[in-house]
Amino acid sequence: MNIDLSGKRAIVCGSSKGIGKAVAHELANLGATVILIARDGETLKQVKGELSRDAGQRHDFIAVDFAEVDTLEQKITQFVSTNPPVHILVNNTGGPPAGPIFEAETQEFLQGFSNHLICNHILTQTVVPGMKTEGYGRIINIISTSVKQPIKGLGVSNTVRGAVASWAKTLAGELAAFGITVNNILPGATKTTRLQSLIGHNAKKSGVSVEALTKQMLDQIPTGRFAETSEIANAAVFLATPAAAYINGVSLAVDGGRTQCL
Ligand SMILES: NC(=O)c1ccc[n+]([C@@H]2O[C@H](COP(=O)([O-])OP(=O)(O)OC[C@H]3O[C@@H](n4cnc5c(N)ncnc54)[C@H](OP(=O)(O)O)[C@@H]3O)[C@@H](O)[C@H]2O)c1
Repeated sequence: MNIDLSGKRAIVCGSSKGIGKAVAHELANLGATVILIARDGETLKQVKGELSRDAGQRHDFIAVDFAEVDTLEQKITQFVSTNPPVHILVNNTGGPPAGPIFEAETQEFLQGFSNHLICNHILTQTVVPGMKTEGYGRIINIISTSVKQPIKGLGVSNTVRGAVASWAKTLAGELAAFGITVNNILPGATKTTRLQSLIGHNAKKSGVSVEALTKQMLDQIPTGRFAETSEIANAAVFLATPAAAYINGVSLAVDGGRTQCL
């Protein structure tokens, strides 16, 4: 099985911490050069220094806020026009704020669509010409199991995730002929700051203690535990390898069996 990524170049968004950071580490472990993206440049510099590397791996980073779409477009265009082609794009960023959908402000939907769908689209349009030239492309979107089963209290997120999944499925049909696959990873509850903040938010709202709420959540997961970030990264990174060439257009739940649908 060929899982060697030597000579491949990967952009990993939301990679200063959490799932994105774990994906960056595993891509580097398999030999890829990694370009990290997030807002906090100091942290990105630190993560870059922690990635494994051999002589051919020249890791880099771009500090940008996905809330500033024009700046993202300008920075990524500049980067792509002055560097060798990118083979792997991992679309990922912080999730939208929690809350019931009925109470959501229209601006929250617009911001969510912009940060997730529009930024994914800009990044994809910028890197795909290089992928076509190379005859190798892997676009992997980190979304959520809410694509298959909406999660209570995550109204805006549930809505935006469905749109991203539909965008990705459509793209998968258009790009496969060029050796480019497009797939989604749907993480279950994973030990990151996002999970901590969601549990804290829900505990406060419901008046249930953090411990009791954590237990309720664990009771819904057949494996009985939250995921390590490396477990989500393993699945995402496999999709980036030559071995995964025939996997295209899927939404893969990595959730310990929590999602209640086929
Ligand atoms: N953890 C879970 O249980 C879980 C479950 C299902 C789905 N998900 C989804 O998976 C994705 C990653 O989750 P995570 O838990 O790894 O989140 P996380 O630990 O909060 O990390 C989010 C990453 O995105 C970056 N980021 C956030 N806002 C950004 C912005 N406006 N522009 C650019 N970069 C931004 C953050 O870095 P900076 O702050 O430096 O920008 C960080 O690197 C999210 O969409 C989340 O909703 C997570």
